[in-house]
Amino acid sequence: MTSAPGLIDYLKHLQVKGQTHIHLDHDAKQVLRELYKKARAARMPQQQVVNTPAQPVAPTKPVSAPNPDFANPAARLEPQPKKAAPLPVAKLTPTQGSISERLTALKAQASQWPAFAKLGTLRSTMVFSAGNPEADIMLVGEAPGFQDERAQSPFAGPAGDKLEGILKAMGLSRDEVYITNVVKYRPAMADQSTGNRKPSEAEISASLPFLNEEISIVQPKVIIALGATAAKSLLGGNGSLASQRGAWHSYEGTPVRVSYHPSYLLHNEKSISDKRQVWEDMLAVMEKMQMQISEKQRGYFKPKA
Ligand code: URA
Repeated sequence: MTSAPGLIDYLKHLQVKGQTHIHLDHDAKQVLRELYKKARAARMPQQQVVNTPAQPVAPTKPVSAPNPDFANPAARLEPQPKKAAPLPVAKLTPTQGSISERLTALKAQASQWPAFAKLGTLRSTMVFSAGNPEADIMLVGEAPGFQDERAQSPFAGPAGDKLEGILKAMGLSRDEVYITNVVKYRPAMADQSTGNRKPSEAEISASLPFLNEEISIVQPKVIIALGATAAKSLLGGNGSLASQRGAWHSYEGTPVRVSYHPSYLLHNEKSISDKRQVWEDMLAVMEKMQMQISEKQRGYFKPKA
């Protein structure tokens, strides 16, 4: 469980960044209840406090080499260690058969991949992909979080709701696109409950052979990189996400459009201009896919003249 000072520091950090509200799901509320009970017990040492035994909020995998920074939830906003641990040379066994047979074979390899075990910093529940493996549009996010791990499906939490809203505005549903992440396991943290962190460079490089193979199996016509991790993993370079937006890139011949991560929109709910920028990225994808675009769609989130 997260320590109270760590949690308070993290909330203060969000407040300084201008965030005024946070979403608390059932499990997060449970964590806060436990912290409250502990604090109350500490304040009233002589009184007997009847505590129900603390329930583990989410199954945690022992982490063999935890980064001590992970004990602090604010650490997920700090850069992860740059130095990649030496990894065994990744060599996937070529997959055969139909698209879904090949993806099943790829998943089986990901479930036993020695580099992941060697790293010891990823959790054990695989969250591979969702949607239609024959889709023309592939969306690539960063890594699963708490809700995604629980649902064993990417973008199952609030960021997924936002993503579904974007797809709906495009006239698409989750089942009409292919949704995946660079990293297929939720990055682990010490005493982890509902907290998430960004994947480290070592975790990303261990995962990239799978994303690469997934792209060559699905063969999308367009890839949408959601956020900086996906953009950097696919396109490399040290440029900012803002500098990569607004143009077509290529990943081994497949056109790539870079956009902000849906979580970014969640944290900037009031910003029409951020929404418009994401929407312009999606309009570019729709044009590339020769999808019909109504005048109404073209005008979404346009500032009023
Ligand atoms: N959930 C995912 O599956 N991926 C992200 O990048 C964020 C949330």
